[in-house]
Amino acid sequence: MSQAEVGDDGFGEDPTVAELEALYAARVGKEAAVFVPSGTMANQIALRSLARAGTAVVAGRTEHVVAFEAGAAARNAGVQFHLVPDTDGVVEPSDVEYAISLAAFHQPQVSLVSIENTHMASGGIPWTLDELDALRAAAGDVPVHMDGARLLNAEVATGASAASMASRVTTVMTCLSKGLCAPVGSLLAGPADVVATGRVERKRLGGAMRQAGVIAAAGIVALRTMVDRLAEDHARARRLAEAAADRWPGAGADPARTPTNIVVFSPPDAGALVTHLGAHGVLADMIRPGVVRLVTHHDVDDEGIERAVLAIAKAP
Ligand SMILES: Cc1ncc(COP(=O)(O)O)c(C=O)c1O
Repeated sequence: MSQAEVGDDGFGEDPTVAELEALYAARVGKEAAVFVPSGTMANQIALRSLARAGTAVVAGRTEHVVAFEAGAAARNAGVQFHLVPDTDGVVEPSDVEYAISLAAFHQPQVSLVSIENTHMASGGIPWTLDELDALRAAAGDVPVHMDGARLLNAEVATGASAASMASRVTTVMTCLSKGLCAPVGSLLAGPADVVATGRVERKRLGGAMRQAGVIAAAGIVALRTMVDRLAEDHARARRLAEAAADRWPGAGADPARTPTNIVVFSPPDAGALVTHLGAHGVLADMIRPGVVRLVTHHDVDDEGIERAVLAIAKAP
C-alpha cells in the first residue's frame, strides 16, 4: 500500500485501481469492473445502472440490498422491491417468472432481478450452477445482479469458478474487505457499457476517489493471495455450528448446513447469548430478532474458535 502508484481515479488515472479492476473483471469473466468503497455502494450502483425508477426489482426478502441498506434502493434508485421467499438462500425461478408476468395496468414492470451468493441471512449458502441456470432462464430478458459480497467463499465451497457463476448474471459485485481481508473496498463487474454507466453513478454517489491506489493495492493482494485460505474460515465455522447444535439441538445450527463462513441459529434467548459471548470476548450479533449470526474470518484462529466453543457450551 505504501508503494502503490496512485492517481486521480475520478479521471481514471490511478494505475493501481485500474490493475485491480482488470484483475477482478478477469476473475469473474466480465468485460469491465469498477472499484467502489463498499459493498452497499456496489449494490446501489447496480440498481441505478440497471433498474429504472418506477419499476420493480425482484429480490429475496432477506437479501442485503433489501433488508440491510437502510432503504437505499427507494432513495437512490426510485425502485420498489417485489419480494420473494429466500429462506434457504435461493430464489425460486417460478416466483421470478410470476413477478415478471404481473406487469399490467396496475403492476410495475420488473427491470432487474437481484440474488445473493453466498446468501448471508440463510447462513452463507452458495447457489449451485443449476440453480443459477434456472434463475437465469426464469429472468428471460430481465438483467440479473448478483450480490457476490462473498462470491469467492461460494467458489471455494462449491468448486464452481467465480467466472462460471458470474456468467449466469449481468452484473456481479464482491467485497474485498470481508473474508478477503483488505481494509476497504468492493468491485462491481459487468458488460462494458453497464460499468461505464456505473462509473457515472459512482461519481454521483461520491464514490470516485483520489489516490485510491493506496487501498486498491491491498485489494490486489486480497484477490491474489487470500482466496484459498477461505477454506480455513469454512472449517472453523463448521466447528462453531457443531458447538451451537450440541448446545441447542433444533435451533437451526447444523454443520452440514454450514458450507461457508457464517452460522445462523435461533437460541432460546438470542440477546442473552450475544451478551454472554461478548463477556467471553466473542463478538456475535443478531441479524433479526431472535437470530444470532457468527462469522469466521482471517483474524479468528483455532484458539479463538475454541474460546467461542467453550463459551457456547456454558451459555445460559
Ligand atoms: C451479502 C452482503 N452484501 C452487501 C454487503 C455490504 O457491504 P458493505 O458493508 O461493504 O457495504 C454485505 C455486508 O455485510 C453483505 O453481507
